[in-house]
Amino acid sequence: EKGGYEHFMLKEIYEQPRSIKDCMRGRIYPQEGKVQLGGIKEFADKLKNIDRIIIVACGTSWHAGLVGEYLIEEYARIPVEVEYASEFRYRNPIITEKDVVIAISQSGETADTMAAIEMAKEKGATIFGICNVAGASIPRLTHAGVYTHAGPEIGVASTKAFTAQVTVLTLMAFYMAQQRGTLTTSKLIELLTELDHIPEKIQIALESDDIIKKVAEKIKDSKNCLFLGRGSGFPVALEGALKLKEISYIHAEGYPAAEMKHGPIALIDEEMPVVFIATQNSSYEKVISNIQEVKARKGIVIAIVTQGDIEVKKMADYCIEIPDADEAFLPLLATIPLQLLSYHIAVMRGCNVDQPRNLAKSVTVE
Ligand code: M6R
Repeated sequence: EKGGYEHFMLKEIYEQPRSIKDCMRGRIYPQEGKVQLGGIKEFADKLKNIDRIIIVACGTSWHAGLVGEYLIEEYARIPVEVEYASEFRYRNPIITEKDVVIAISQSGETADTMAAIEMAKEKGATIFGICNVAGASIPRLTHAGVYTHAGPEIGVASTKAFTAQVTVLTLMAFYMAQQRGTLTTSKLIELLTELDHIPEKIQIALESDDIIKKVAEKIKDSKNCLFLGRGSGFPVALEGALKLKEISYIHAEGYPAAEMKHGPIALIDEEMPVVFIATQNSSYEKVISNIQEVKARKGIVIAIVTQGDIEVKKMADYCIEIPDADEAFLPLLATIPLQLLSYHIAVMRGCNVDQPRNLAKSVTVE
């Protein structure tokens, strides 16, 4: 059932070129610059006039929500708020009939996310779901939704469900942009054509396994690890840190790289590994100066870089390459090496990768 892989997690990591293809099937028409999302079609008109979107989720799904915020604001120009479902439900948030709430959940059974949905529904909001498990409780509670179609995810650490959630959010952002006219057809053609090829690029990203194992060997006995990124690289850093802590029990934190100087920089010494999302995009130069700050304090720099990078290679201790892509698709690609890195570290430390201590696949208690 593990298809020849040692763990479900590894199998699920390697399934991503296929799961993302499945997620996009029948939904994108690159040549026409068109996105079709049958599940939310009846709300197409409503999307033209909404003033804001609230995303609620927990854990990894919340990280996908942060990527969604970046994409929806960038392309559809709708203000987005991302909330931990567990906090949102216990506040008295301001919600009206004009709001659209997007609930993200792999399992579709997370208690806090369900409670957040119920509260928002009572206040009259329209609720969309992004779920993986068909027919679960959350898809039944929502008004409409889009399934991720990643297939069953057995490993407690979410991998392919995360990239499928990000894919759905990318499709939603483009769909909303199409409804609202914030992207031209020619730009949509360009973006969708590139998105169509992302599964092949993920396949290439999966092939950096050798260098990733070397990095894992180097940092496997560390007590701490920092993950830093900017823009949509920030949620990727958060997700990298969560993966590492949950399966290897190494304390890890994700931070926006620019926040380093407001505190975490105090932690850096020759024993601190710092993983940077340092791909060539709008924040590339800024990330380079953050890398210099870490190197000046003798931190161990591991950088996720764009294929063919020269600048970061001069400074970093280890570079892991991913294929070049439009900034919109960076989270989908940069996440892959971080999943593999935490996997290999956990295996080297002898941890139970698929069933880490104290964790459950679906958290049905509040
Ligand atoms: O099923 P859900 O997406 O609602 O689950 C949310 C979190 O419990 C989940 O993402 C958790 O953080 C994972 N263990 C992360 O790998």
